[in-house]
Amino acid sequence: MKKAVFITAVFCLMLLIPTFMTSCSKGDDKEDEIASVKNEEIDIIEEIRPNETIQNEVEGDSDEDFAKGTPAKGKEIFAMNCTPCHGQDGTGGGPTAAALVPKPRNLTDESYVSTLSNEHLFKVISGGGLAVGKSAAMPAWSTSLSDEDIRDVVSYIRVDLCNCEFDGGN
Ligand code: HEC
Repeated sequence: MKKAVFITAVFCLMLLIPTFMTSCSKGDDKEDEIASVKNEEIDIIEEIRPNETIQNEVEGDSDEDFAKGTPAKGKEIFAMNCTPCHGQDGTGGGPTAAALVPKPRNLTDESYVSTLSNEHLFKVISGGGLAVGKSAAMPAWSTSLSDEDIRDVVSYIRVDLCNCEFDGGN
């Protein structure tokens, strides 16, 4: 009698396994569904708060994270790559600047740089002026500088050149 129960149990298990496996493969559809619901949520949130911080939240980076670098290293990187246009002191008077329209920005101008978020600074240095709808004369550095280098430069701009924080876009 016990044997019969055991056999029935094994038989039931054998029936259950394929059912379980098909429900697993259906999981993909569910993931798609969850992803599309998530996207809708993001769309809705973006509609409510149409600013760039939403992207950070999705990627898990806060605006401060883009400036978590070493200013002293950023200074060296700036001296090697940026001074021809932005000048030794960052005010925008480098030797190449004369020929450029628009002029390279004065990165020591607190009233201007405080309107730019750390993420924006990161983006414009990494992807160049075009990445933020500005002049292509500001080159993209993502091929020659690592993300860490760029964060170092962003911190250098914040701490030394402008000595100012992002005012939150107000
Ligand atoms: C070939 C010249 C050139 C070099 C080299 C250069 N820039 Fe620029 N940069 C520009 C110009 C031109 C602008 C102004 C773009 C505009 O206002 O449309 C600019 C603008 C900027 C801005 C302001 C962006 C904004 O949204 O207003 C930042 C920040 C900046 N550059 C950082 C850097 C850093 C950091 C480096 C070095 C890694 C660098 N630049 C190297 C020409 C240059």
